[in-house]
Order: sequence, then structure tokens, then C-alpha cells
Amino acid sequence: MAEKILITGVSSGLGHGLAKAYLEQGATVYGCSRRKPDDLIEAGLHYQSVDLLDAEHGQKAFEELIHDVSRFDAVILNAAKLGEIRDMADTPLDDLRGTMEINVWANKWLLDTIYSSGKTVKQVVAISSGASISGSRGWNGYSLSKAALNMLIKLYAGERPETHFTSLAPGLVDTEMQDYLTNLPADDRFKPLDILKAAKGTEKMPDGDRCAKMLIEIFPKLLERESGEFTDIRKM
Ligand SMILES: NC(=O)c1ccc[n+]([C@@H]2O[C@H](COP(=O)([O-])OP(=O)(O)OC[C@H]3O[C@@H](n4cnc5c(N)ncnc54)[C@H](OP(=O)(O)O)[C@@H]3O)[C@@H](O)[C@H]2O)c1
Repeated sequence: MAEKILITGVSSGLGHGLAKAYLEQGATVYGCSRRKPDDLIEAGLHYQSVDLLDAEHGQKAFEELIHDVSRFDAVILNAAKLGEIRDMADTPLDDLRGTMEINVWANKWLLDTIYSSGKTVKQVVAISSGASISGSRGWNGYSLSKAALNMLIKLYAGERPETHFTSLAPGLVDTEMQDYLTNLPADDRFKPLDILKAAKGTEKMPDGDRCAKMLIEIFPKLLERESGEFTDIRKM
């Protein structure tokens, strides 16, 4: 029986790469995002447009997407917003709230929607970030939200022993997120920008397709680790 995989944020970057690679392997893949990935839909992706910032409408669209599935082999919570790199004092509260909504609370209602309809899930991987622990100046809402995501995943792991949970930092990935970061002017306040600019275009920053293939190899190995753990792929 083909594996059933659910991925959020399939329109670009890592999520697009994951969906493509799983489809190529013959898995049945379910995905959502705001922008429609026509190429993946043509390749067989089950797709719904879902805005994770809009819990009310988003949840209904998400329910439709997963309605006919009783078991997922993997749920990959990948969608996220980076937000602007700037000082915390210059970051409007509403901006931080929006980032938390997409990167943390949406993952709560996505998981609750899956479980409340009686579906079973073998493995949940939430795509986290080194920023969840580094606390680099300027990464504000993104760092806060990824730190909270790590804890959200640990809390669900305690409630759901039948599912294996991991928050996984995927390393640097050459995606739209990195296009934004690496095109920012160098700024002494925001030191990681220099590292990212130097890594862009090198093997230290594989594109979404390459990173996805590495992650798909790693996901089964995560099952040997404690459920609820935060892991950085660079330290495995
Ligand atoms: N790139 C890196 O170096 C890096 C490093 C560490 C961790 N990560 C993590 O890797 C994951 C993938 O990021 P990426 O680099 O591939 O970024 P990306 O290319 O910007 O992709 C982000 C995805 O999230 C979706 N998304 C964003 N806001 C959404 C919303 N309101 N509703 C629904 N979907 C939404 C986007 O779809 P739409 O815009 O179509 O809605 C898109 O498919 C994220 O969790 C990110 O934090 C990335």
C-alpha cells in the first residue's frame, strides 16, 4: 500500500521539494499552501488552498483536503513565515502575532483537525530551525515562533504516544526565504547574514529538491530517537 504523506507549504522551497520527491517515490501526497503548485497537481498531488493565517476558513479547507484519509504515515509541518529581519524594538506587535499564527498556532489547529476526526498518524515532523535556539539579533518573530514550535511538538508528543514527533532543523536551504535574506544589505547588527551570503550557491546551501531527498532518507531514522525531541540535521 502506498505511503500517505501530508505536507504543508507545498508551493515553494523545501515543501515543494518534499512533495515532488514523495510523488516520484509513488507515495500518495496531500498538500496545502496559498499559491497553487500546478506542476505537483499534474503529478498527482491532492491539493487544497489553505491560508494558515485564517484559522476559520483555513480549517474548513484543510478538513476537505484530508477528509478521505484514515491514516497518515507522515505529517510534515513545513509551512512558515520568516518576516523582516530588523530589531525587536522596530517590529510591530501585529507582525509578531502573524508570525506566531502561521508558525505555531496553525500547527496546533492542523494537528487537532487531524486527530479530532479519528485519523492515526505514524510520524509528525515539524520543520524547525537553528534560529529556534540561536537567538540571533533581528530574527525576532521567526526565532520566537520556532522556539515555541519545538515546545508545541514536545507537548503533543507527551499526549500522543501512538505518534512519533520531531522538530527538525533542516540546515540551510536555498529557497525564497534565503533569496530574501541573502539579498539584504550586509549589516553589522545582523551577523548571520554574512554566513548566509557566503553559503548561497555552495554545497552548504542545497536547494529544496536536494534537501528534500536528504530529509526523506533521515525521517525513518528519527523514529529511533525520543519522541518530542528537537534535532538539527547538521548534528545528526
Ligand atoms: N530556507 C532555509 O534556509 C531554512 C532554514 C531553516 C528552516 N527552514 C524552514 O523550512 C521550512 C520551509 O521553508 P522554505 O525555506 O522552503 O521557505 P519558502 O520557500 O518561503 O516556503 C514557505 C512555504 O510556506 C507556505 N506558507 C507561508 N505562509 C503561509 C500561509 N499563510 N498559509 C499557507 N501556507 C503558507 C508558502 O506557501 P504560500 O506562500 O503559497 O502560502 C510556502 O509554500 C520553513 O518551516 C522554514 O522555517 C528553512
